[in-house]
Amino acid sequence: MKQRIEKLTEAIRSASIQTPEELEAFRIEYLGKKGALAELFEHFKEVPAEEKREVGQLVNQLKNLAAESYEHWKAHFESVPLASSAPVTDLTRPAILTPPGAFHPLTLVKKEITAIFTRLGYTVSEGPEIEDDWHNFSALNFPPEHPAREMQDTFFIDKNPEIALRTHTSSVQVRVMENQKPPIRTISPGRVYRNEAISARSHCFFHQVEGLYIDRNISMAHLKHDLYFFAREMFGPETRIRLRPSYFPFTEPSAEMDVSCNICGGKGCNICKYSGWLEIMGCGMVDPNVLENCGIDPDIYSGFAFGMGYDRIAMLKYQIRDIRLLSENDLRFLSQFVSG
Ligand code: PHE
Repeated sequence: MKQRIEKLTEAIRSASIQTPEELEAFRIEYLGKKGALAELFEHFKEVPAEEKREVGQLVNQLKNLAAESYEHWKAHFESVPLASSAPVTDLTRPAILTPPGAFHPLTLVKKEITAIFTRLGYTVSEGPEIEDDWHNFSALNFPPEHPAREMQDTFFIDKNPEIALRTHTSSVQVRVMENQKPPIRTISPGRVYRNEAISARSHCFFHQVEGLYIDRNISMAHLKHDLYFFAREMFGPETRIRLRPSYFPFTEPSAEMDVSCNICGGKGCNICKYSGWLEIMGCGMVDPNVLENCGIDPDIYSGFAFGMGYDRIAMLKYQIRDIRLLSENDLRFLSQFVSG
C-alpha cells in the first residue's frame, strides 16, 4: 500500500497537463469515483491496525496533493486564453484617450517671463529655498538688527536665526555674484516664503523672478530699457511704465515700477483701483556694498537689479481673484489652463 501511495505521489507531481481535456482525464484518473484515490480508500480496511494511522495520513496527503494540482491547473487554464479562443484585445474598439495635461498658470507666466528675458540675453539661475542669513540678508546689505529685516516677515527654521526659508530670490543673485565674474546677466525665478496672513490677496509663499545685470558702466538707463522692453512684451505694445522712488537695502537708488493698467488701458478700473497703474516690481542700482560683499569691485563694475512677484501677474493675466486658488490643486481650476 505504501509503495502504491509513493508511486501515485510521484505520478501526480510529474504530471504534465497541456489542455483542459488532459486535465479532465487527470481528474478522472485520480479523483474520480473509480479513480486511484477511491481505490486506495477501498483497500484501506485491509491495512493492519497498527499501520492504519500512518497509512491514513499518507493517503490524505496524497488526496490533498491531487486536489491542489487539479485546482492549480484549472486556474491556469481559466486565466490563459487558448490560441483557439477569441482574442482578448479587440483592436477595432476606439482607443481610450489620455486626457491632456495642463501647465499650471504660474508655470505659464514663469515661462513667458523667462522667454522674454532670455531674448535679452539673460540666463536662468536657481538656488536653494532654505537659505542662510548671509545669502538672504547680510550680503544684501541688511545690517544685523536693521528694521529692514522686519520688512520681510521671515520663517526661521527651528528658531535658528541663521537659517530661514528665503524671503526673496535675491539670495540666488548673491550666489551668482559670488561664483561668476561680470558681465552677469541672469534672472532667478522661484518660490519664496513670508510669514503673512493668508487671504485672497496674499499668501505665506509666493513666486518671484528677480533679475541682475552687472557690467562696466551700467546705469539706470539700461535698467529702464530692459524693464520697458519686458513690460511691452508681457502686457502689450501700448504699455507704458513709470518708476517711483522707493527703498531697498540692496539697491541705491531704488524704485518701484508700475505699468499702465492693461485691463482699462490706463483709464481707471477696479483692478488698478482707478489709478490707471499697476505696481509690478521693485528695482534699482545694486548698492556698491552688495557688490563688494560678493567679491565684485564696485569701482570697476556697476549693475541693476529688479524683482517681481509673478503670482500677481498670473492673477492679472488670467483674472484670478483669489491667490489661494494657485496652491489648492483644484482640478476644476487647473483644467481651465489646458491648451490645444
Ligand atoms: N527683493 C525685493 C523683494 O523681494 C525685490 C527687489 C529686487 C527690489 C531687486 C529691488 C531690486 O521685494
